[in-house]
Amino acid sequence: MMELTVILLVSYLIGAIPSGVVLTRLSGATDVRKAGSGNIGATNVYRVAGKRLGILTLLADMLKGVVPLLAVQWLYSSEPKVLAWVAVALFVGHCYPVYLMFKGGKGVATALGIYLVLSPASVGIALLVFAFVLWRWQYVSLASICAAAVIPALVYGFERSLPIFIATLVIAAGVIYRHRGNISRLLDGSESRFKG
Ligand code: G3P
Repeated sequence: MMELTVILLVSYLIGAIPSGVVLTRLSGATDVRKAGSGNIGATNVYRVAGKRLGILTLLADMLKGVVPLLAVQWLYSSEPKVLAWVAVALFVGHCYPVYLMFKGGKGVATALGIYLVLSPASVGIALLVFAFVLWRWQYVSLASICAAAVIPALVYGFERSLPIFIATLVIAAGVIYRHRGNISRLLDGSESRFKG
């Protein structure tokens, strides 16, 4: 129990590393929190600091999901209940980072990393949904929301694991909740389209 508590705390602290802020600071770019949508994620880094940093932020945020989960699987346990808790801790860390007074991102790239480990088949289909919505409407936020909406059913179908399914519901609901500003902008037509 004590071990798991420490693992969850460390997972939270890793998830909380604000890759976008660190990378833009290191490269001397604009503070991503004060430009564009104000979000610290890859889309806004791409928007305000360019393609290279945007892609690096996407990779770094994804790795925050991939590496800790693989490490836990290899070194501690691959029990679905344990992995489900770790996944939620990583996601909460990204969205509510202690290093930024709990003002974090929307969790999409970190969730992508998490599901690359927990359910790669689900990620494959969710990415198709994401790509279609982005191609058709050019809103990353809408694509993220749609991918989040379909992933719980996919994970349930492919993994048949109740703990992983519950964690996925929590994470998907969290992604959609964190996009509530985007949802208002989508509804009033002021959301910015992705320019690749
Ligand atoms: O992953 C975040 C994305 O879905 C939306 O980002 O900066 O347009 O709010 P942003």
